[in-house]
Amino acid sequence: MSSGTEANDDHAPAPVIRVLTLFPEMVRAVLATSIPGRAERQGQVRYEVTDIRDFAVDKHRTVDDTAYGGGAGMIMMAPPVVEAVEKVRERSDATVILTTPQGERFSEQLTLDLLADLQAKGELILVCGRYKGIDERARELVAMREVSIGDYVLSGGELPALVVVDAIVRRLPGVLHDEDSAANDSFTADRDGGLDCAWYTKPPVYRGLGVPEVLMSGHHANIEKWRRQQAVERTRERRPDLATAEEPEVKGGKGRKGRDRT
Ligand code: ADE
Repeated sequence: MSSGTEANDDHAPAPVIRVLTLFPEMVRAVLATSIPGRAERQGQVRYEVTDIRDFAVDKHRTVDDTAYGGGAGMIMMAPPVVEAVEKVRERSDATVILTTPQGERFSEQLTLDLLADLQAKGELILVCGRYKGIDERARELVAMREVSIGDYVLSGGELPALVVVDAIVRRLPGVLHDEDSAANDSFTADRDGGLDCAWYTKPPVYRGLGVPEVLMSGHHANIEKWRRQQAVERTRERRPDLATAEEPEVKGGKGRKGRDRT
């Protein structure tokens, strides 16, 4: 268990996540909230949010323009992005991520890779893409890794960048307390990469729906077995693409389908 500023008990500076965006207020608001906000207040991470528009090179603060060769949509210009990255980064080898629908798919594995990268270098940079795209030369010049959060297009890369930051920060040692532990979350090794099980809390009966008996039995081994089996079933039903685990032998409880109504 961890608490408070434990991550910095050895006086190592907190790792810094820099987010470059055209909507800094949106990004700051989210990073100040919930677990990402608590992690910063506890000194386990630091966020630096930079307005890319501050790096526009003309007096109108232009950051986008039409595409060479024609076509609908505006393209983010290379100079403000490249100059912003070069100004804020402290390490020349810091990983620079661009959020874009054309990137590699974000996942549990990529979360852990980026977490390790952040811990090793102490710095991670995210550039929120906008408009139709970003001038290809910006990518080449600041060696970006491109990340997509799924096969759909959002209005911009801010929400995807915040998804990436949240997923990483909650895995920093000491950020999650027991009550919000990530140990057996969906997609973790604990769940063999599959989905989490069903969970219940008070009241014991709600609108005629009870709780599986095994959970009220106090028999920890049976409860654990039931949960594992539930997780495997759920993964098979909902995400057969993830289902790799053998179904464990079940004792002492019924799954949701067999659950009694009271
Ligand atoms: N920008 C717009 N849509 C996106 C997505 N799905 N993932 C990452 N960045 C995006």
